[in-house]
Amino acid sequence: MNYKLIFISSFLLISQSTQLFIDNPKLSTWMMENGEKFFNLSESILTKVQQSVLDNLQIIEKHNKEVSDFILGLNEFSDLDKKEFVKCYCKTVMPKQFLPDRPKLARAKALNNFTIDNLPESFSWKEHFERVKMQGKCGSCYAFSVTSMLEAMNKKKNSSWNYELSPQYILDCDSKNDGCDGGWPAESLMFLKYKSKNEAPTLENYPYIKKQKECKMTGFPKVKLNIDEVFEFKFRGDEKQMRLHLVNYGPLVITMHVNDDTGLFQNYKKGIFYEKECSNDCKIINHAMVLIGYGVTNDDEKKPYYLVLNSWGKSWGEEGYIRMAADRGNNCNVACFGVVAT
Ligand SMILES: *[C@@H]1O[C@H](CO)[C@@H](O)[C@H](O)[C@H]1NC(C)=O
Ligand SMILES: *[C@@H]1O[C@H](CO)[C@@H](O)[C@H](O)[C@H]1NC(C)=O
Ligand SMILES: *[C@@H]1O[C@H](CO)[C@@H](O)[C@H](O)[C@H]1NC(C)=O
Repeated sequence: MNYKLIFISSFLLISQSTQLFIDNPKLSTWMMENGEKFFNLSESILTKVQQSVLDNLQIIEKHNKEVSDFILGLNEFSDLDKKEFVKCYCKTVMPKQFLPDRPKLARAKALNNFTIDNLPESFSWKEHFERVKMQGKCGSCYAFSVTSMLEAMNKKKNSSWNYELSPQYILDCDSKNDGCDGGWPAESLMFLKYKSKNEAPTLENYPYIKKQKECKMTGFPKVKLNIDEVFEFKFRGDEKQMRLHLVNYGPLVITMHVNDDTGLFQNYKKGIFYEKECSNDCKIINHAMVLIGYGVTNDDEKKPYYLVLNSWGKSWGEEGYIRMAADRGNNCNVACFGVVAT
């Protein structure tokens, strides 16, 4: 079906929102590209949606005029107000209790034995990542980051292992976490390894519906997850320690703070993300992503960054990825917690 045509023709019957649309070429381009979403919305909702796009455009244009290391742009979340966005999409919740520290065991399971003094200048596990996922309007980043990390871990162990795991299974059945209301990645890994007996269904066998439903643990095929151990690390802002654990153990699920006051992270398009207004004390955490590597920009400035995979589709950031500023005071709490399955 040609949504664009239907969208435009239905749209022309409408008054106030039509005027906004006609007055703003950037808004109208965005509305056409994202048209399906707005088909059949009432006039008042449509006007509100357009207002949010215009508010985001204002944030974007103001930021892009300033000198900074990153630029902003519209994406498929531009219809959401900055507070509303963080409320729906950033719901990582810290647990009452962390996994016990097991430093000796962690050392025995290392893939590499780099030390703080001989860390490589740049490093990446990107070749083991194939997909950019889209969590949609559900606070499930913890489940998405865990499935992406496990897929990469398995591909690294066995290149013929090629499944896409089901985040919905975690939403429904990991009772320590809270479905679309958020959770903690290490809890989901423990659920998968122990309660689910190191097996999980694929996305195909247990599809994603963006809301929690009744848990079903049987009645569909599952694949082996091959998790030996789950290690949780507290970096407490020590970025060198985080890099050390990344190179020695593999891609880490990390957590961070997304500031809902500025809308910068929501509208990130490309470059090295740095936000001076966000937290750096490890107390405020609301989002989880996968840390894949680090490096320095290949211009004269050689700015250090982390390469991180998000679960907000490819329209966000650098095709779904972000480069976050490194060594700038634990910016946005990027180096607080990390969890890995070996
Ligand atoms: C739009 O609304 C009409 C009438 O309520 C309904 O029949 C139609 O399926 C809706 N279309 C979409 C794409 O939701
Ligand atoms: C790293 O060091 C530990 C402890 O000495 C050892 O058990 C492990 O085999 C080493 N791993 C590698 C990849 O060399
Ligand atoms: C690698 O994965 C494939 C696909 O799941 C499986 O058939 C094969 O047995 C695995 N190989 C090893 C050595 O585990």
